[in-house]
Amino acid sequence: MSAPLILGLESSCDETAAALVRGDRTILSHKLAGQEAHHAPFGGVVPEIAARAHVEVLGPLVEAALADAGVKLGEVDAIAATAGPGLIGGVMVGLVTGKALALSAGKPLVAVNHLEGHALSPRLADPDLAFPYLLLLVSGGHCQLLLVEGVGAYRRLATTIDDAAGEAFDKTAKLLGLGFPGGPAVERAAADGDPRAVPLPRPLVGSGEPHFSFAGLKSAVLRARDAGIHATPDIAASFQQAVVDCLVDRTRRALGRIAPPTALVVAGGVAANRAVRGALEQVAAEHRLRFVAPPLWLCTDNAAMIAWAGAERFQAGLTDALDVPARARWPL
Ligand code: KG4
Ligand code: ZN
Repeated sequence: MSAPLILGLESSCDETAAALVRGDRTILSHKLAGQEAHHAPFGGVVPEIAARAHVEVLGPLVEAALADAGVKLGEVDAIAATAGPGLIGGVMVGLVTGKALALSAGKPLVAVNHLEGHALSPRLADPDLAFPYLLLLVSGGHCQLLLVEGVGAYRRLATTIDDAAGEAFDKTAKLLGLGFPGGPAVERAAADGDPRAVPLPRPLVGSGEPHFSFAGLKSAVLRARDAGIHATPDIAASFQQAVVDCLVDRTRRALGRIAPPTALVVAGGVAANRAVRGALEQVAAEHRLRFVAPPLWLCTDNAAMIAWAGAERFQAGLTDALDVPARARWPL
């Protein structure tokens, strides 16, 4: 069978996206509309506003993705849409659109778990990445260590007991008045700061299970801010270093518990952070493992990763009925 051509749709948070990807890793087109301007006045994503914005732009983005690729809807082999987890209004917009396109074109639907999109995205960027690999999935909603053993085969080794890493970045940005979205703002501020300036905790570092915790770190940032003795870039840099130290320690712990994987992989929005990438690259080197991190645009939410996960699932014979539900919560 020649490599299938998949139309992917993403709308689970605050990015609306459509992409055409072939099973041979060719990205024919990818279109994305962010919603920063809609949510910035509120300092965070407002679910109802997000859903309305997805409704407005998803159709035109699908048309643009098809036009850019020079492909007609009837020529795709399947339609892949994020079916969760995420903000339910947005997820429903993308999934219902996917169902309508699948029905009208007479093509199969692949309901993709957004986390699976992140988990498999490194294989879109790197043809040599084989299973099983250890994945640190760090996004706005999740912080997990997963052993990716195959398509649909994910062994969760650790998760966060409170906030996700991206959430910690976003909350810290808000506390420090750095704006929204928080992760890139903290990274920029941190570039001018001293990571050793402010003593901050490293929650759970050294503990037996490789789990994560970031809530205490956020409270410590609040106290450091209110103490009024530290410059904002110093707090940002010290916070970022504390997160990096936690991610590194927990990843080392997980590596100590499994047979050597083929690679250490980092994905999800926080994987766009250069300090995070650099530190994990060192962990991989210590363990003589390949280090794989998708390009920055593929780390944050996009539809190419959904189309690619759709291609992997489609090739494994995994398609879904048109009554597949949208799910706000959906552990991998
Ligand atoms: O994967 P993603 O785009 O959406 C979710 O599925 O959550 O991740 C978004 C998260 C946000 O919390 C954002 O602040 C964080 O990723 N992020 C970053 C950076 N870029 C995005 N965190 C730290 N440094 C960055 N450069
Ligand atoms: Zn995501």
